[in-house]
Amino acid sequence: MQNRRIVLASRPEGIPRPENFTIVEAPVPELGEGEVLLENQVFAIDPAVRGMLDDVKSYMPPVQIGGLIPTMVLGRVVKSRSPQFKEGDFGRGFIGWEEYSILNPGSVAFENVTVDPAIPLTAYMGALGWSGITAYVGLHRTGEMKAGDVVVVSAAAGAVGSVAGQVAKLRGCRVIGIVGSDEKAAHITGDLGMDAAVNYRSAPDLTAALQAACPEGIDLYFDNVGGRTLDTILPLMRPFGRIPVCGMIDNYNHQTEQYPIRNLWQVLVNRITMRGFLAYEAPDMLHEAETQLADWFRSGDLVATENVTVGLENTPDAFIRLMSGVTSGKTLVALNDRVTTLG
Ligand SMILES: NC(=O)c1ccc[n+]([C@@H]2O[C@H](COP(=O)([O-])OP(=O)(O)OC[C@H]3O[C@@H](n4cnc5c(N)ncnc54)[C@H](OP(=O)(O)O)[C@@H]3O)[C@@H](O)[C@H]2O)c1
Repeated sequence: MQNRRIVLASRPEGIPRPENFTIVEAPVPELGEGEVLLENQVFAIDPAVRGMLDDVKSYMPPVQIGGLIPTMVLGRVVKSRSPQFKEGDFGRGFIGWEEYSILNPGSVAFENVTVDPAIPLTAYMGALGWSGITAYVGLHRTGEMKAGDVVVVSAAAGAVGSVAGQVAKLRGCRVIGIVGSDEKAAHITGDLGMDAAVNYRSAPDLTAALQAACPEGIDLYFDNVGGRTLDTILPLMRPFGRIPVCGMIDNYNHQTEQYPIRNLWQVLVNRITMRGFLAYEAPDMLHEAETQLADWFRSGDLVATENVTVGLENTPDAFIRLMSGVTSGKTLVALNDRVTTLG
């Protein structure tokens, strides 16, 4: 059986370009003991992968030239040598941009996903998948969120941020989202129910705009972007505020020239707890997060948003748009047009 895979052709400089990627064909290897073969249905397109395309130290090894581009996949099991999976199940794990993947217990985020046929499949790769789980873990565990907190979320119209803002509202917080366009601002306050939005691109003075939106200061800043936004927020934190560091996308396209953080002293002034986290390192919260997110989705309390590109060959384009900052909701690739989406 032949597989089509997308590999790294050259290292991107800045925002990735189509020529950084190429499609190759290779036979699907034989299954080993404990492994399952997935026919991939959906890829989750993640900003963190941009960091893995540079030859620098990250929390995952850099992709080598000719190496498969890593990604979270959701696929239907077509062959199983694992007692945990049977044919027709849905397997999810961090594998790569390819039509068929072999999943084994060593795969990051290896999971047999129970799919409710009443819920579109793509939701399990966005708000009900790792984006939602990340928001949930970051707020509850790393951020120690409490009802009544003033919570600020950056990239608040994005995959993780859109869920983080809604979950914080559902837990009784006041939520301010930071976004990069007026359309996104209207979306997060109108469709997603956040209390206020700040457009960091158009605000003439970002500090003043955030002070106006949170005059009482900030208890919890859910950081998706780092850079200037983080630097601006540090002095606005309340004493004993918490900053769960989910990601720093502002740095990803230019890792060697990162924005200089000038206000780090404010961590001491405001006795801030600032801590990075990786959602897949909280497996004990997985069941709670998945169950709660699905319940909120079914009851209509959680709005899932996504943008879906169809076809393996269009995956680089979806990634390039994500890294250009123009997307809203979870960026996904459906491998065929039979995949059910949120519409
Ligand atoms: N720790 C974990 O376990 C974990 C898991 C998943 C994701 N993450 C991280 O969470 C963050 C959000 O990921 P996501 O998947 O939800 O992405 P996303 O928010 O759907 O998409 C990225 C958004 O980031 C904003 N952005 C801000 N500065 C940017 C820049 N310099 N270049 C491009 N975009 C920029 C853009 O929105 P605006 O128009 O609003 O600026 C853009 O639409 C990322 O940092 C990611 O690495 C962490």
